[in-house]
Amino acid sequence: MKLSFDKITSVKGELTFKGDKSISHRAVFFSSMAEGISTIFNLSGCEDVNSTINAFELLGAKFNYEDNKLIVKGIGKNNFIQPVKDIYCGNSGTTARLISGILASQKFQSTITGDDSLSLRPMRRIIEPLEKMGAKISHNNFKLPITFSPIEEIRPIRYELKIPSAQVKSAILIAGLFNDDFTEVIETVPSRDHTERMLNLDFKVQNGRKRIFSSSRNYPCNNEYSIPGDISSASFFIVLAILSDNSNLLIKNISLNPTRIAFIDILKQMGADILIEEIGVSNGEPFGNIKVSSSRLKNIEIPSFLIPNLIDEIPILSVAGVFAEGDFCISNATELRFKETDRISALCKNYASMGLSVDEFEDGFSISGKVKNQYGVFKTFNDHRIAMTFSIFSMLLDRGGEIDNAECTKVSNPDFFDQIRLITNI
Ligand code: S3P
Repeated sequence: MKLSFDKITSVKGELTFKGDKSISHRAVFFSSMAEGISTIFNLSGCEDVNSTINAFELLGAKFNYEDNKLIVKGIGKNNFIQPVKDIYCGNSGTTARLISGILASQKFQSTITGDDSLSLRPMRRIIEPLEKMGAKISHNNFKLPITFSPIEEIRPIRYELKIPSAQVKSAILIAGLFNDDFTEVIETVPSRDHTERMLNLDFKVQNGRKRIFSSSRNYPCNNEYSIPGDISSASFFIVLAILSDNSNLLIKNISLNPTRIAFIDILKQMGADILIEEIGVSNGEPFGNIKVSSSRLKNIEIPSFLIPNLIDEIPILSVAGVFAEGDFCISNATELRFKETDRISALCKNYASMGLSVDEFEDGFSISGKVKNQYGVFKTFNDHRIAMTFSIFSMLLDRGGEIDNAECTKVSNPDFFDQIRLITNI
């Protein structure tokens, strides 16, 4: 469904967000894996997390929504059941990659599939380490569908990540939970650390290398989870408030995990007026409030070691860059090409259509010049973050703009358009 937007005058008010998508996936994983009853408060209602719930239903977990919480009857380490059909992961890379760590370790056969986008995404990154752990995997040229054959027991591994990826790191560490000896993952560039925090895994940092350990001792027990709001969903509103005149926005109870807020550090260095107040920690995850006001921005050089910690926010950060003084440039971000769509190509195509000068390169892009067309017609490539990025961009153009698919925003934030109405009085 096509959707159009007028220019907004200002942003005012308060927003809260449903639970962070990455933390929600993991809360469903660890509740489903544990024996007994777990409770999850403020779970994300997005399609990706529903894919994880559907997957675990097929493996034997039971879910019940009660008021504002999800009650989970978990499976237990040795009681996973063989799914009666293929496990469909929809659009969700996190579901597919993390659940591979479990399926690779089972005594039964199972197959995972996904939608057109997920079926094009690279899976060699999890297949190789899991095979080194003894998993028996057949695949479609390192893409979905992937079939896991039964094995007696998964083996521990010591594995240095080839790319900074929380999904790969988590798949290996989760497989490591099915053996009594320690699996060790070595990370040289930090990526989001929700798995380590929520499973309370031991780690050591030496000379910039993080060594993370998992074994059956870390297998999750039933628990109560309270999930802070989704900082990636909030990033779109943060940039909208910064770039609109006379704007003030308060975002409450949002995740402030340090491996997720690099985009805030960058925006602050660009001159954004952002105040952060940490108010607590829940299941190892810090959360708090963020206040944002209209600001004038200046582009800066974005350090490459921060890229994994702002990877999902690069699309919306580029909107801030377009309206900031100087040229916006991002490099060392090849991973963007392997997201729900090739995000480097999608961003460059849309910006070029606005008369901006765009230079696309293998690991990034730069944008210079001024927006020439004052009405935008944008392609989402059915990617939720591209759809939200160009919804925000449209609201900043003199004559507004339109996106070709509003539905896909439900992949991460079904509340996106209601939240826009709430703070812009549209
Ligand atoms: C995620 C990790 C990131 C991120 C994705 C969610 C996670 O992917 O882009 O949206 O929950 O672990 P990679 O680990 O592949 O970089």
